Amino acid sequence: MEKKKLKLFSGVKNKKVLELGCAAGKSLEYLVEQGASEVWGLDISSEQINVAKDNKNLKDARFFVSPMEENPGIPENYFDYVFSLYSIGFSSNIFETIKLSSQYLKSNGTFIISWTHPFFNCLDINEDKVIVKRSYNDEEIDEITKGPDKIKMMQYNLKISTLVNMIIKAGLVIDRIIEEKPVSENHIGNYKSTFWDPRKINSCPTTLIIIAHKN
Ligand SMILES: C[S@@+](CC[C@H](N)C(=O)[O-])C[C@H]1O[C@@H](n2cnc3c(N)ncnc32)[C@H](O)[C@@H]1O
Repeated sequence: MEKKKLKLFSGVKNKKVLELGCAAGKSLEYLVEQGASEVWGLDISSEQINVAKDNKNLKDARFFVSPMEENPGIPENYFDYVFSLYSIGFSSNIFETIKLSSQYLKSNGTFIISWTHPFFNCLDINEDKVIVKRSYNDEEIDEITKGPDKIKMMQYNLKISTLVNMIIKAGLVIDRIIEEKPVSENHIGNYKSTFWDPRKINSCPTTLIIIAHKN
């Protein structure tokens, strides 16, 4: 089966890109292959950044160990793309993170975020049925420990409208909202829990993606 491509980036050749929550830099490596002229990455985990720095394909990249809700020295009005894949919901201040992203972007630059679809997070499986385990209205914050260096993180469960309104308040213009399920079985991974149960996946998009730009 041919994989469906979402085409989130509309051409990165000779473009400057910044990823917030870049982990080991896999997406940045892909963007180097696609011809990006400068790739910058930021992650709160020094272990992840060290792995990224050891990657020969990222030898010219600039990296920061920092929370994305702070600016550790990233230039403003500089980037063609600022993006954050499956990371922004860990920021302890999502609005500040979006505001900073807007500052980093050049005029006409593109902002892309993906996060677990907030309603998918409300679902579970009980006695063979998909159930709503918690209310979509409750914008709860879960504290979780993640990654090899066991960093404590906040995981926000925001409604779509809350996130969209933050992006608008930060002065960005929304171009596209995508609600998707995994493009291939490989994306489901080896989860043993019911989190990626196919019945849930067939009931609700797993991922929310928002693409916006700076005027
Ligand atoms: C699920 S991983 C996503 C990695 C990568 N974007 C990808 O798509 O493969 C989430 C990353 O966010 C980082 N992270 C969590 N909280 C953060 C914060 N407040 N600021 C910056 N990075 C953070 C974690 O260390 C982790 O590397």
